[in-house]
Amino acid sequence: MKKQILKYLIEKDDFISGEELSNIFNVSRTAIWKHINNLKKEGYLIESVNKKGYKLLNRPDILDENIIKEDLKAKYFGKKIYHFESLDSTNNYIKNNYLKLNDKDIIIAEEQIKGRGRTNRYWHSKKGEGIWMSIYLKPDILPFKAPIITQLTGASIIKALDNLGIKTSIKWPNDIFLNDKKLCGILTEMKLEVSDLEYIIVGIGMNVNSIDFDDEIKDIATSIKAEGFDISRVDIIREILKEFEVFYLDYIKNEDKKFMDICRKRSNVLGNDIFIIKNNERIKAKAIDLNNDGNLIVLNEDNKEEELFSGEVSIRKDDK
Ligand code: BTN
Repeated sequence: MKKQILKYLIEKDDFISGEELSNIFNVSRTAIWKHINNLKKEGYLIESVNKKGYKLLNRPDILDENIIKEDLKAKYFGKKIYHFESLDSTNNYIKNNYLKLNDKDIIIAEEQIKGRGRTNRYWHSKKGEGIWMSIYLKPDILPFKAPIITQLTGASIIKALDNLGIKTSIKWPNDIFLNDKKLCGILTEMKLEVSDLEYIIVGIGMNVNSIDFDDEIKDIATSIKAEGFDISRVDIIREILKEFEVFYLDYIKNEDKKFMDICRKRSNVLGNDIFIIKNNERIKAKAIDLNNDGNLIVLNEDNKEEELFSGEVSIRKDDK
């Protein structure tokens, strides 16, 4: 009910009386007043004027479906957004509920209690500090065509942030960097049914408002705010959905991989000396290319070319 009242206030964009609202929702005026008070507590500025009623004055940075949709340029992505105050993990939510979800549904949480990164690492996801979002996809493609969607997502995020005046880079295959620190990670997971693709989950975690980072990550992580930008999470999500939609539909329909140009141009590993991290071992190499399958081509210490399909690399700063 509270969300429906909010939707109504957004659409009306003017005063609406308590009486009218109570008729529309078939509840008492006191009930309406209680819902309005709860919305105010959540950060919505609602003016109440005697005899005129209620009017919404601001669009707070709350990742509510109706607020995101208000100025959303994507046509399909964002049509259905499930917004939660708290979840264990938005990726887990999809895993546990995929039978009830539809292709292209979006799950967003204000906080995650058990946010997950790659290799089951803990992903810090404090309340209101970032974008903790997963996209549910059911494309009709062969499973081997799914992993590159991580890089498609990375390119969409780079473009989205470009549109907002923030220049980021991508560390193959799934990290977005801002000023040499990690801003955003992507966790793509898929489920196979026999050998068919059942679904893909694209999980995006972006630090937006964080200033104080926990000790384990404070030297390596950053946020939009920590780098001096003041941009709302709602605006970032709208841009990501818009850019993701273009690349995704082109890829699924036409196998178009234009997004790989962005991954190459904005790579922070290409041309650099790196470590390949395999089973806790660090192997020296040089990153020389990123092919159209999304694989990283490296020169190993014997000067032989190797193709990396997935995995983790780190950039060597000095000759350590
Ligand atoms: C990484 O860099 O290792 C990937 C991090 C991905 C984090 C996001 S936050 C939304 C979604 N839900 C999760 O539990 N993880 C992803």
